[in-house]
Amino acid sequence: MTILVTGGAGYIGSHTCVELLEAGYDVIVADNYYNSVPEVLDRVEKITGKKLKRYECDIRDREGLERIFSENKVDAVIHFAGLKAVGESARLPLLYYENNISGSVTLFEVMEKAGCKKIVFSSSATVYGNNPIPYREDMVTGDVSSPYGRTKHFIEKILGDVYNSDNSWSISLLRYFNPIGAHESGLIGEDPNGIPNNLMPYISRVAIGKLEKLTVFGGDYDTKDGTCIRDYIHVVDLAKAHLCAVAKILGTTGIEAYNIGNGKGYSVLDIIHAFEKASGSKLNYVIGGRREGDLPAFYADASKANKELGWTAQYDIDKMCEDTWNFQKKNPDGIK
Ligand code: NAD
Ligand code: UD1
Repeated sequence: MTILVTGGAGYIGSHTCVELLEAGYDVIVADNYYNSVPEVLDRVEKITGKKLKRYECDIRDREGLERIFSENKVDAVIHFAGLKAVGESARLPLLYYENNISGSVTLFEVMEKAGCKKIVFSSSATVYGNNPIPYREDMVTGDVSSPYGRTKHFIEKILGDVYNSDNSWSISLLRYFNPIGAHESGLIGEDPNGIPNNLMPYISRVAIGKLEKLTVFGGDYDTKDGTCIRDYIHVVDLAKAHLCAVAKILGTTGIEAYNIGNGKGYSVLDIIHAFEKASGSKLNYVIGGRREGDLPAFYADASKANKELGWTAQYDIDKMCEDTWNFQKKNPDGIK
């Protein structure tokens, strides 16, 4: 079976390629390397001892995508390619709509023309907005606070319309909670350009001495220690969820959304303390003001993915922090 992975050189994509190759799939990656480097794919090959096929291709490039489908028999697509910085999306909404939505529509059109109607899409817990917790898949979605989040919501809806128009599609919408951690080899991990926006890459850059201190965004929330609660999930667990989703879509038709989270909430201070334990040193941090748009607490009800995909998260926050620190230590300047 051959799986096309768009955005396969990125953080979650690269970990998923490892799992796919190890499970015996043939893997084709299409990435424009906007937020990654080809070296990541060399490392995926090093971890697995297997080769993947790669195309430097932008998902907005119809001819480039058509070439991939004409040169290969693609059985299913896992669609990671997209821009993901929430703050940037508020400054550059058109870039986000063009890249994420136009790119996705072009991909779906090319897939339809090629007769490949099986797709796993990277959605986000952000589509739930201000719902009660834990989030469940049957809740109304779309009350989102950023253009980035809206691209996820719109693409979910577009895929819903595609399925309604043609029931031979098989579509899995995976709503990720907060992925952190790295492959335990330390060869691949999260390597954002510039100053990180997200918690874990910020913490690891402080720990390695590249940034001076972490500011905890808000210490006065109505939570157990005043800091925000999130559902952190090890990226390898997340990657494995894609294998379960692919196995499911290869054998069925339909459209389903799944929460991919641990189902447990941890505070920012819990993560800091777990990281201190993993790294063996104190982290320099201060409690600062709240970040606009942050919700106090959210986590997944992951029982649907447990039941219907046969997937359960295995790793705890200690392992997530150990693997993040291992990757950071081995790659102090990132992946070049
Ligand atoms: P990432 O930036 O590391 O990976 C995305 C990859 O897509 C990169 O390699 C980038 O170069 C590529 N890309 C972007 N635009 C492209 C285009 N037009 N054509 C071809 N390639 C393109 O991000 P990630 O953390 O691995 O996230 C993967 C997906 O999961 C994204 O769609 C993201 O929105 C979604 N997601 C991520 C998180 C998270 O916390 N990391 C949470 C929820 C959802
Ligand atoms: C963010 C996005 C969300 C996106 C997700 C994955 C926002 C508002 N939300 O989620 O849409 O799907 O990333 O890309 O940006 N924190 C600090 N200090 C920091 C950084 C973060 O205290 O320097 C805190 C935050 O307040 C939050 C927690 O750490 O409580 C996690 O933050 P982050 O990693 O950015 O993820 P989310 O905000 O949950």
